[in-house]
Amino acid sequence: MNKTEEFMMYIEEAIAKHLPRAQETDPRQALITSMRYSLLNSGKRIRPILTLAFCELCDGDAQSAVDFACAIEMVHTYSLIHDDLPCMDNDVLRRGKACNHIVYGEAIALLAGDALLTKAFELVMSANLSAEKRVAAAEILARFSGAAGMIGGQCIDLQSSQQELTMETLKQMDMGKTVALISAACQMGCVAAGADETVQKAALAYAEGIGMAFQIQDDILDVIGSKEELGKSVGADQANQKKNYVSLLGLEQAKALVKSYTEQAIHALNFAGEKANYLKELAENLSKRRH
Ligand code: IPE
Ligand code: IPE
Ligand code: MG
Ligand code: MG
Ligand code: MG
Repeated sequence: MNKTEEFMMYIEEAIAKHLPRAQETDPRQALITSMRYSLLNSGKRIRPILTLAFCELCDGDAQSAVDFACAIEMVHTYSLIHDDLPCMDNDVLRRGKACNHIVYGEAIALLAGDALLTKAFELVMSANLSAEKRVAAAEILARFSGAAGMIGGQCIDLQSSQQELTMETLKQMDMGKTVALISAACQMGCVAAGADETVQKAALAYAEGIGMAFQIQDDILDVIGSKEELGKSVGADQANQKKNYVSLLGLEQAKALVKSYTEQAIHALNFAGEKANYLKELAENLSKRRH
């Protein structure tokens, strides 16, 4: 088993444990089934993998960070359920299946997102780690998920359909909607291992590099990717008149940015020597991803 498979195994086991199937007689069955539908559905698990990998980079035991890892995946999954709603990107396909609201209706999809967000904080606060670490992780998760982070970025993204964006606001949008949760994932791994501030700073620089590259590659794949490989619709951004690096700069310059942000990420971990090889390779692989 390679490291990614090992991390995935910890993550899938923990996610399944934290969100068991509802009893048939449970009146909340629709809600729980819809939460499981989106969460247990072939996500790439990049963010929880980052949490475990950063914990290990900081000499912690990866498994000790698994509840933090599940929490970040829950927040991410909630963000996807809401992102697909008719009032946001109005999508129909996600992770190779019909979007949550297509199957369960908008109201349940909304509640499933809310419940995943809330469950994430329950997991962080009840993790088997010191109170100090749990509080630090909860603060990070809240800050990076909220108006100063992911939700703020989503707001700029939605408004970009109606207005032009400056390069500065474009960067702010991606730093929010995508880099923020990736930063939280890396930071929570550092917290679980009790890392010092120098490593936390490096983790932030790495997260900015891979996060920006990740969103720009997502925008590129929305143009040149295939529905089959991606498991989601293509051409969604153009259909919604969204502004992004591809629409503002064109494909070639966007590809060059993916490369330079990836180099920035790799460079940020040079201080750690060979221990950072896994995270450096991950950055490299993500820059070439097709899904
Ligand atoms: C999709 O994230 C949303 C973006 C931030 C681009 P992922 O590409 O990580 O989606 P899953 O989790 O693998 O479905
Ligand atoms: C989504 O960005 C970012 C978040 C969900 C926070 P996109 O709207 O580009 O993601 P996809 O392409 O639908 O996965
Ligand atoms: Mg969106
Ligand atoms: Mg979308
Ligand atoms: Mg997209």
